[in-house]
Order: sequence, then C-alpha cells, then structure tokens
Amino acid sequence: MSVSQEGPNHIAIVMDGNGRWASKRLLPRLAGHRQGLESLRRCIAACIERQVKVLTVFAFSSENWKRPADEVLGLMDLLANALAKEVPQLLKDGVRLYFVGDRQGLSKKVSDGLAQGEAATAHNSRLVLNVCFNYGGRWDMVQAAGKVAAFGKPITEQAITDALALAHVSDPDLFIRTGGEMRLSNFLLWQAAYSELYFSKKLWPDFDESALDQAIAAFLSRERRFGMTSAQLSESEDRPKLPRPK
Ligand code: FPP
Repeated sequence: MSVSQEGPNHIAIVMDGNGRWASKRLLPRLAGHRQGLESLRRCIAACIERQVKVLTVFAFSSENWKRPADEVLGLMDLLANALAKEVPQLLKDGVRLYFVGDRQGLSKKVSDGLAQGEAATAHNSRLVLNVCFNYGGRWDMVQAAGKVAAFGKPITEQAITDALALAHVSDPDLFIRTGGEMRLSNFLLWQAAYSELYFSKKLWPDFDESALDQAIAAFLSRERRFGMTSAQLSESEDRPKLPRPK
C-alpha cells in the first residue's frame, strides 16, 4: 500500500474537552477554556516546528450561543484578552491570523480586536492560523451560496469554494478532534471532504506535542486515494493533489 509521503500542510482541530478537564479538577468550565488556550499556544509552536503551514481551530461554534450566558461571555472575554496579549508573540513567530466566522452579533471589543489582529499580522507567512469563531459549516455554505447568487454566477463547485470563508487556504489534510467524541459538529463540512479524520481521547488541555505527533504519524500511515484506486495510485508517478491546491 502506498502511503502519504509528506506531513500535513493544513491541520484542522476541534478542541474538545475543556469543560471535562475543568470538572475533573472541580474547577469552573472557564478554567478549562483558559487551559485550552494554553494548549493552543503550545500547539501553534509545535505546528511551526513541524513546518505545518495552516492551522485551523474551532474556538466558538454558531451553536455555542446555547451555552450558559456566563460561559459565552467568558469565552468572548478570553478571545478579546488573548488577542491583546498574544498578537505580539504571533507577530514574532511569523503567524498570520485570520478570523473565520460570522462577525455579526459579536461585541465591538471582540470584532475590533479580530480586525486589528488580522491587520497586524497580515505580512506574516510562516503559519496561517485560522481561528473559527461564531462559525458553523452550514452558516459558511449558506453565506457562500448567497454570495454566488448575488453575483449572478452559475452554481459550480469552484464558485462555492471561492466564496467560502476559508477560500484563502487549501482544504485540511488532517482533521483532529480531541475529547473522545467522534463527530464533525458542523466544522468544515465542505472542506473536510477528503481530510483524514483522527479522533483522540485526550481532552484538549492535555493534547500536547507527543499527542500531535501521534496524530501526524497516523496521517502518514494513511493512503489518500481521492476517489482513485490503490492500483492507480501506485501506477501514478505523481502523488494525488488536493482537489483545490493553493
Ligand atoms: C469545547 O470544549 C471547546 C470550546 C467550545 C472552546 C474552545 C476554546 C479554546 C480551546 C480556548 C481558545 C479560545 C480562544 C477564544 C482562541 P467543551 O467546553 O465543549 O468541553 P466538554 O465537552 O468537556 O464540555
């Protein structure tokens, strides 16, 4: 069997398990999210070291508004404070920030912070960090279809792809979900069509460099066929390219 020769260019992560991490320690859920932020910091550094080019994380879903108000407000505050605090380090590390999601309904503090974080890091290119906030895969498809219709373009796969909120990057090669659940939860529904899925039982705050290496090792052992047969792959000199190379 031929297997992936190169490490993942783009990793997407559902950072699940912060609440359970906190409950196990009799801490409030927000303490879990704060520890989750620490884990994200570590993951960004690890991705840079491993020459991953794009990291896309699910920080707040369209459905997370249903959580208790104090947790929602806490997550908003965490993001706003993280932006103020982390951007100088991201700048030094060559990270380019993108915020992906519906900005309507976010407070001015949060949406200004998002815009400033993006502008400040716009010249960086070592790692693209897509923070999906107030994001849902279905929201993205609907807004993309709306754009295509508004321009009066024919509905094609390419037209929709180009109108999606992640049009600036290639599709994820490796899709990781921590926390033991095995579902997509409305994350990257379009873009994950050919991603390799990897589910870890580790809670997100415990997902460290060695856990990331295990996920990458699993990815490297997979055969990516993109709809072809194994025999076709072995015959082909070139590795299959992602449907939407960037
Ligand atoms: C899911 O775990 C996690 C979230 C909804 C929030 C993710 C946020 C972070 C990792 C912090 C980084 C944040 C920003 C703002 C960049 P859960 O709470 O559903 O965990 P549970 O399933 O154990 O309850």
